[in-house]
Amino acid sequence: MLKDLQEIERLKEEENAIILAHNYQTGDIQEIADFVGDSLELCIKALEIKEADTVVFCGVDFMAETAAILNPCKKVLIPDRGAKCPMAEMLQVEDIRKAKTRYPDAAVVLYVNTLAEAKAEADILCTSANAVEVVESLPQERILFGPDRNLAWYVSQKVEKEIIPLPEHGHCYVHKMINLGDLVFLKEKHPEAEILVHPECDPEVQNFADEVLSTGGMIRYVAGSKKKTFIVGTELDMTTRLQRENPDKTFIPALKGAICQNMKLQTIDKVKKCLLNEKFTVHVDEKIANKAKLAIKRMIEVSESKKKLN
Ligand code: 13P
Ligand code: SF4
Repeated sequence: MLKDLQEIERLKEEENAIILAHNYQTGDIQEIADFVGDSLELCIKALEIKEADTVVFCGVDFMAETAAILNPCKKVLIPDRGAKCPMAEMLQVEDIRKAKTRYPDAAVVLYVNTLAEAKAEADILCTSANAVEVVESLPQERILFGPDRNLAWYVSQKVEKEIIPLPEHGHCYVHKMINLGDLVFLKEKHPEAEILVHPECDPEVQNFADEVLSTGGMIRYVAGSKKKTFIVGTELDMTTRLQRENPDKTFIPALKGAICQNMKLQTIDKVKKCLLNEKFTVHVDEKIANKAKLAIKRMIEVSESKKKLN
């Protein structure tokens, strides 16, 4: 293991590479990464990269594609190209086009968890960290929102607009596993704990929680909270980062089995091989990338201008 880590450091220097990792990566990958974050932070980081020639992306396909779209002049590599987000595949271009024809007055807001072809059809993208502000920034009163139905529900509770989920059934299999019964049980056992859940969880789970937050939102919330114990309703490795950064606090996963098998396809060994063999390159068709980039940049502008206002 130590040899692998030393080899990765050497290869990184040789390739002038940077490693980006999502919060759901295993602890060992989080530790070798140059930057660990949520989907929005990773988009912004990808846009800001100046110093590297190669980006190794430890996450799932849509995240690596987003980095490639924002960095057409850099080499973007993904250690295991089989790491796909099943939710992203639930929304096909044809579904979006049909919905646009049916609701010509609606804006199309797509979650970053979409394939590049779908992103190219969007007016603007969003992540779970900025979905509400993105929807509020638009002049349209009717919003086609996809693919996560639960995030669409979350947004619909916060804005005075009509939110139409696209498709009907879009969901994350990992967050679907977290149920109200588990939370009630854990809260009885740890009445002092605060419950934090991701907006991809079902509405009844969100309603029972104290806070509904993106993964980056959870990091910031815990850092600023005086509470000592948290029940965490999202992917299991979120507690790995929270625990590392807050050794004096206790984190209880809402469900130990809430594991994104797709995220876990990235391993230290594959990161090493990826740098060694310069594989696998993430390619996005130029025409699609240019359209998708506009929608991603619009989202980043909304988030950045909100930050300036605060
Ligand atoms: P975040 O944007 O909150 O990191 O979530 C990404 C994701 O895939 C959640 O399942
Ligand atoms: Fe996709 Fe769910 Fe995995 Fe996130 S946790 S990458 S939404 S399958």
